[in-house]
Amino acid sequence: MPDTVSPYLRFDNVSLGRGARTVFDGFSASLGERRVGLIGNNGSGKSTLLRLAAGLLLPDAGEVFVEGLETKTHRGELPGNVGFLFQNPDHQILFPTVGEEIAFGLTEKGMTDAEANAAARELLAANGCEGWEKRAVHELSEGQRQLVCLLSVIAPEPSVLLLDEPFSSLDLPTRLDLSDRLRALPQAVVMASHDFEFLSAFDRLLWLDDGRVREDGRPATVIAAYEASIRGLKTARRA
Ligand SMILES: Nc1ncnc2c1ncn2[C@@H]1O[C@H](COP(=O)(O)OP(=O)(O)OP(=O)(O)O)[C@@H](O)[C@H]1O
Ligand SMILES: [Mg+2]
Repeated sequence: MPDTVSPYLRFDNVSLGRGARTVFDGFSASLGERRVGLIGNNGSGKSTLLRLAAGLLLPDAGEVFVEGLETKTHRGELPGNVGFLFQNPDHQILFPTVGEEIAFGLTEKGMTDAEANAAARELLAANGCEGWEKRAVHELSEGQRQLVCLLSVIAPEPSVLLLDEPFSSLDLPTRLDLSDRLRALPQAVVMASHDFEFLSAFDRLLWLDDGRVREDGRPATVIAAYEASIRGLKTARRA
C-alpha cells in the first residue's frame, strides 16, 4: 500500500520469538490511516503485533515506532500516546471497582481524583452504564467487563487506540452502541477483529498469515482474498 499518510505506527524489520516459536521474522509495515484492521486465523500474530505496538512486548530484533517514539527506548512515554485493549478483559483490569478502573488513566493524565471520578461517572452514564462506578468489577459479566475496559482505554483520549477484538463478548445492543462510538472517535484505531461487517468501513486491512502480511489494502479486496483462500482450503481438504 502506498505511503500517502504519515505513519503513527511503524514496524521496522521486526523479529520476535515467543517460547520455541518465531512469531515475526523481519516484519515491516507502516500504518498511517485513521482506521486499520488486522484479520487472520487464530495464531496468525494479530495480538502479538498489537502488543508490540503498545510496548508490552519488545522486539528481539528490529524496531517499533509509535508516533515516532521507539518502544524500547521510550517505553515509559507510551501509555500517554497509546491505549491498548486486551483481548481478554481479565488481563486488563487492575482495580476492584468500575469507577477506579476508568478513573486511573485520567489521574495518570493529570486530573485530580475528584475530576477523574466525575469524568468516569459521565462516561459511564453516556454509555448506558449510569451508576456503575461503585460496582465491583468481578461481579460483572464478561461482556460488561469488556465494555468497562474499552471505556477505560478510551477515557484518557490517547492518540492511537489498539483494540484486540473489542466486540468478542458484547451483546448486540452494546456492540452497536460501541461501534457508533468508535466510528466517531477522532483517534487512529488499529483493531484486530473477525467482524468483517464493521471492518468493511475501515481505510485499510492487513491480513496476517503466520506472522507475515498476506494481503494489504482496501477491506473489500482483502476480505475477498481471505475468504477465497479459506474456501479454497476447504475444497482442497474435501478433494
Ligand atoms: N505467551 C505466549 N507464549 C508462547 N507463544 C505465544 C504466546 N502468545 C502467543 N504465542 C504464539 O504466537 C503466535 C501468535 O499468537 P497471537 O496471539 O498473536 O495470535 P492471534 O492472531 O491474536 O490469534 P487469535 O485470533 O486466536 O487471537 C501463535 O503461534 C501463538 O502460539
Ligand atoms: Mg488474538
